[in-house]
Amino acid sequence: MDKIRSSEITPEHIYLGRRQFLVGAGALTASLVFLGGCRRLSELAPTPEADFCGSATAGATSDELGDPLSACDAATHYNNFYEFSLEKDDVAELARGFKTSPWTVQVGGLVNKPKTFDVDDLRRNFPPEERVYRMRCVEAWSVVVPWLGFPLAKLLKEVEPTSKAKYVRFESLHDPKQMPGQKDRSFQWPYIEGLRLDEAMHDLTLLATGMYGKPMPPQNGAPIRLVVPWKYGFKNIKSIVKIDLVEEMPTSLWTAFAPQEYGFYANVNPDVSHPRWSQSSERRLGERARRETIPFNGYAEKVARLYEGMDLRTSY
Ligand code: MTE
Repeated sequence: MDKIRSSEITPEHIYLGRRQFLVGAGALTASLVFLGGCRRLSELAPTPEADFCGSATAGATSDELGDPLSACDAATHYNNFYEFSLEKDDVAELARGFKTSPWTVQVGGLVNKPKTFDVDDLRRNFPPEERVYRMRCVEAWSVVVPWLGFPLAKLLKEVEPTSKAKYVRFESLHDPKQMPGQKDRSFQWPYIEGLRLDEAMHDLTLLATGMYGKPMPPQNGAPIRLVVPWKYGFKNIKSIVKIDLVEEMPTSLWTAFAPQEYGFYANVNPDVSHPRWSQSSERRLGERARRETIPFNGYAEKVARLYEGMDLRTSY
């Protein structure tokens, strides 16, 4: 199958939009300028990731709406992972060799039983189940991925959140030696994300340790990442090392960077435009025609009740 270039998938104005915004915000450092145009995937050396997809499997062939799974090659070679790159098509290459074992996740804050979990133990104690979810990036592209994982609620129940806990704060690894993008000081590393406690306890909210029937590849957030399918993709924090139950709404990396562009809730909403582009439609990786974006990314029946009484235009 032909490899995909960022510029072929994302409409140019969107693709350039984020870059230009970064420039405008003074975020493009000399090293990033050096990156220049988007490198062709075909120029990169062959990677073990090709083997990943060669032996990938999935129980399902489509999601519950009948949308086919995205090609494994697309989902694993078109990645947002700013710790490695601002580009999408070189993350797999740059993350090759990223050390993901041993790996622990420290869970604490407002809980009765703080605990540090080893990811291998988590896989043993909470056997991964396959969940096929649509993922809609805030940049207006989307994929359908067969994840392997377990509900975050299972982990949170183990540590017993106290009655003071209102939010969950997630933190990614901070290791500039392994993650070259973290040398760029325009972002406040580590990557942080957050959920309200009821969102975190929702059965759809997954801690994923694999995809396409195999352990998570580095570029998709190995060894453990969050998947919240009704929210924009940036909520799906990768390579998590720390989870804290907290009283106050956490500030994420993106809300700290551009609060008017990336809100805390980030529920997929075709009626609320991003300040620089419409969110009413999206491009599914591997498809030519655009699709209409669905409220809550098609999961409204299961999650809309979480937001009853809230103004979704202002709580974006
Ligand atoms: N997590 C970390 N730590 N760093 C990131 O840059 N990017 C987010 C999210 N999680 C990101 C992250 C964004 S913007 C998206 S769209 C998804 O990861 C992309 O996930 P994927 O590469 O598996 O498609």
